[in-house]
Formats: sequence, C-alpha cells, structure tokens
Amino acid sequence: MVIIVYGVTGCGKTTVGQLLAEKLNFPFYDGDNFHPTSNVEKMRKGIPLTDEDRIPWLNNLRIKIQSWDRNGGAVLACSALNEKYRKILKRGSNPIWVLLDGSRELIQERLDARVGHFMNPALLESQFATLEKPAYGYKVSIDSTPAEIVEQIHFLLKNMNELSSFGVIGMGVMGKSLALNLSNNDVPLSIYNRHVPNKEEKVAAKVLEQFPDQKNMLAFDDLPSFVTSLSTPRKILLMIPAGKAVDHQIEELIPLLSPGDIIIDGGNSFYKDTNRRVSYLEEKELLFVGTGVSGGEEGALKGPSIMPSGPKEAVDKVLSLFEKIAAKDKSGKPCTAYIGPEGSGHFIKMVHNSIEYAEMQALTEAYFLMRRHLGMDPKEIFEVFSTWQEGDTASYLLEITCDILNTYEDDELLLDKILDKAAQKGTGGWSVTTALEYGVPYGVLSEAVMARAISFKKDERSKASQVYGHKPKAISGDRSNFLESLKDAYQACRIINHEVGFSLMKAVSDEHNWNLNFSEIARIWTNGCIIRSSLMESAVAWFSTTDNLLMHPEVIDRMKLSHQKLAFVAGEGIKHGLALPVFSAAINYFLGAITAESPANLIQAQRDYFGAHTYERVDAPEGKHFHTVWKE
Ligand code: 6PG
Repeated sequence: MVIIVYGVTGCGKTTVGQLLAEKLNFPFYDGDNFHPTSNVEKMRKGIPLTDEDRIPWLNNLRIKIQSWDRNGGAVLACSALNEKYRKILKRGSNPIWVLLDGSRELIQERLDARVGHFMNPALLESQFATLEKPAYGYKVSIDSTPAEIVEQIHFLLKNMNELSSFGVIGMGVMGKSLALNLSNNDVPLSIYNRHVPNKEEKVAAKVLEQFPDQKNMLAFDDLPSFVTSLSTPRKILLMIPAGKAVDHQIEELIPLLSPGDIIIDGGNSFYKDTNRRVSYLEEKELLFVGTGVSGGEEGALKGPSIMPSGPKEAVDKVLSLFEKIAAKDKSGKPCTAYIGPEGSGHFIKMVHNSIEYAEMQALTEAYFLMRRHLGMDPKEIFEVFSTWQEGDTASYLLEITCDILNTYEDDELLLDKILDKAAQKGTGGWSVTTALEYGVPYGVLSEAVMARAISFKKDERSKASQVYGHKPKAISGDRSNFLESLKDAYQACRIINHEVGFSLMKAVSDEHNWNLNFSEIARIWTNGCIIRSSLMESAVAWFSTTDNLLMHPEVIDRMKLSHQKLAFVAGEGIKHGLALPVFSAAINYFLGAITAESPANLIQAQRDYFGAHTYERVDAPEGKHFHTVWKE
C-alpha cells in the first residue's frame, strides 16, 4: 500500500506524510527530492515548472511507487496537482490518495512564515490554478494540527476496508435521529454534514462525540471521503431542506457517484420536483428515490412511517433497511412499503401533512369551543380530551394536545404564554394548489391553511377586535349535551378531512397511473407518523373495499348520525362569535357532497347571461350545450 499525501505547496504534506509514515511504520519519501536539479533551480527562482519539466520526474516517481508497493508500502508526499499527473503516478499500482485541503489564505500565511525552503511563495497562485480535486480518494482539511490530521487519515485508512452500507447527508434534527436509528439497528453507516466556516463545523464528528457508544458510524465533513466510505451501489439519504439545497447537493454528488448508485431524498420535497429529479438522474444512470418520512424527531429516532417511491429496483434495494428502522403496525408489519413510481412518496407525504393541518385545526376548534364557548378551564378540557383519547377519537395529535394542556410553567399553563401565530412551511399550501389543479374540493384544508395565515395577522386582529368590540362570550347552562355533540362533530369533521385527503390522492394517482394502494397507505400511517389514530386503523379496512370513504357502509352509518351534530356545533359557535373555519368547511363540504340538486344551475345561467358560456339541460342529452339570449 502506497499512500500519496498531496496538495499545493505549503499544505503540510511533508510534515503530515512523515508523521503518517511513522505511525504506519512505513518509509517516507518526499517527491520533491526526486526532482532533477534543473527543476529545483527553476523553482528556487520562482519559475513555474512546465509539463515538460514535470513528466520525466513523474515517470521516475511512478516506477518508485511500484517498487515501494511491492516491498510492503510507503508514504509519499507529492504535489500531484492535476489528473494528468496523477494518472502517470498511478499507472501500474493503486495508490491511496490523500489530499490536504486548505484555503489559499491559510496556505499563504503558512508559506509567509516558512524559512529555508526552496519553494517561492509566489508560485502558490499557479499551483492553485493547476489543482484539480478528484472525486476519488480522501480529502482532509488542514485546519487541524498535523497530529490530528494524521489521526484522521489513520482512521480513514483503518476503515477503508469496512465500507458503510448506508450514508446520511445532513445532521439536522431529522437526519441525526434517522442516522442514530439506523446505527442502533446495526446498519454500518457514514454520516456527513457540510462544512460552513463559523457556522457548521465538524457537525458530523460532533454527533459521534455526543454518542460515543455508537460503533456503527463514521463521520465526515468532506463529501468525496464520505462517498468513498460507502459500499456500492451507494445508498445516500439526503436529510436537508427541500428546494434548491436538494438540487445543489445532487449536483455535488453526481461526479462522485457510479452508475447504479442511489440517492434518496427524505425531506418534505414537492412531488413534482421529485418527478423531475427521478428522470434527471436516470439520464445519468443514477437512481433517485423520493421518500416521505413522518414522525418528527422522536419518530425518526424510534420508528417513523416511511413512504418511498421512484424506480422500483432502487426502492427494492433500500426497503429492507427502511423496514428495520420503521415503526411497526399492530400486527408487527413495518410502517413502510413501496408507494409507487416517480414522486408518489413525496406526494402522499404532502397529503399526510395536509390531513395533519386540518386535524390540528379541528382539535384547535374543539378546544376553542370548550374554552371560550363553554367557559371551561384548561384542566377541564384536559379531562374531556383524555376521555376522547380512550375511544375511536383517539389519535397521536389528541395525545400531544392532552400533554400540552397539562404542561405548566410557574403554575401557569404554558399554552397561555405562547403567542397565537401559527407558522407553516408550505406542504399544506402545495396540496391546496394541487387540489385546485385537479378540481378536488379541499375546503377543509384550505381553511386550515388560511386559519394559520389569519393567525399571523396578530396586530391587525388585535386592532380590529377593539374597533368591533369583539370578544366571544361564554354561554352558561348544561355543558354535557354540547360536549357530547362536540365529540361527534369533531369525529365527523375528521372523517370528512380524511375522505377529502384520500380523494385528492385518488385523483392524482389516476392521472399519473400510479396505482396507489389506499388501504396500504392507511396501514403505514397507523403508526410512526403524526396522523396515526384509531380512525386511520379503521380506514385500513374501509379502503380495502372502497376508494370512496363516504360510500362505505360503516362511514354512512356514522355520518348519518353525526353530521347534524357538526352542523349544530359549528352553527352554535359561529353564532356566538367563534371562528370555526375547519368545522364549517367540513359541514359545508359534506352537505354539498350529499345534495343531489344544488343551486349551481343558477351559476350556469348567470355565466351564460353575461358571457354566453352556455349550459347543459336536464331534459337534453349530456354534452349538448345551449345558449339563451336572456335579454334583448
Ligand atoms: C411529520 C411532520 C413534519 C413536519 C411538518 C410541519 O410528518 O413528521 O408533518 O413533516 O413537522 O412538515 O409542517 P409545518 O411547519 O408546515 O406545520
């Protein structure tokens, strides 16, 4: 084994090379010592060497490398700046390349401080111009001390033959938790986080420091070394912010990868971006998997719900890993499965988040009705929600809401100290746009999204409430009847929310021929994810017999009994001054959906009146259009 420590002048290759050779008990050679006198003379005078000067020197070194290799190994310090030179050096042997990488400023500083060396610092410029960093080998930053650098190289060499079977890029909350989950499940892993001076430094290494018991992980902040540490076909999970960062990371990876390697995007990416990336990487003979991952930090660490899609051959290669780390459903099956082609995994994650938005808003409205309409205190609301958690209204989101209603700071409910401005990162809005594109009436979701938008207008709301003198008043009297209706109303609202979410999935699946399996999607959402619930468990069975939830016999029975309660509760609340956007959108949607004769004929008449848009008639064949001159 011959290790070539290389880089521009002043990077420390001689010092590091010598120390490394000592550590490995190898002879050390300095490439500069093999230059003919004519080259040394030129360099001393500050005259850059030409290819003509370098090539005989490199050929000479090549023969030496082969003989050192045969004789057990060596460490060679050599500039080897571009591919042309390295190609000469590696002919006939397979040296290990270690680039000592540093900024021009740092190296200039070191050169300025250096005495008694024949290299003229003025040559640094031409060296940086010649330097081509390769995709192979290791790249080690020279920011640390020589001893630390040697330790790092030693570590890389030691692990060289123990390649990791999986890589995770991005050590944010989700990336770190998923990495720990994989490692806890005995998956040999490489983790990487980019290096951003003064902001993100040695982030991956710090994860290892934080979890010294983790024996399955190697940490990198240098992408080529990270990629080199993975067995092929490489499987690299990106856990970085959706959008441009993903494209940028893909571009950085492409030159380092080999045909058949797999990039997996586990962030909340927009599904159309994933469709595009699948095709783009296919052109480059690489495979791209887009996967929804739900469950937040705890889920990622202990078992998330995972929704991979893209080329089936690629998903097949990573599914067993996902099965290891995913949550398990009631029968012990992992909450992950191949979702479908292209970006269907990210698409269903987007809808998951949309169901999440409306579920959260519905809970908020139930809470608001209890707190402001019924005048209940948080402890009483906690009690009521806790009883709901025992029946088929149980859900993870209700469970955390109970916890929130039971969290006090200095004897005061923490919730009351939280500013009432609800943020959003965009997945709900994407679904609203998609619903509009496909003509799916997703009012429940748009109202949930808009409720967050209104919440953000805190100043305007505060001023307007004074101008209008608006403050919802609590009613007095018996609460129990209302609370009973509220529970049914809440559940009816949830059924409607799930029905519309799944109908959006059906519309998009049909259009793309994705052939989504809704019962299976519901199944992988029964655990690990944010919208896991008893209702989702029922939905697994419901979707095994129908695609249209509202027409399932069990749902029909439930909705027949509860939709009037939803109308009553929403009406009461609004009458008493509470905004209940999701409750009212749900009942409006439902009533619209079960009304055979709607007033839409009047809209058609109006359109035809002012714009000659034509209309169809109930007493004429479908597709035949009429126009009336409504007024002469
Ligand atoms: C999940 C969550 C997760 C994230 C939401 C929050 O499934 O684990 O949905 O993806 O918490 O995207 O979204 P907002 O910031 O838009 O509320």
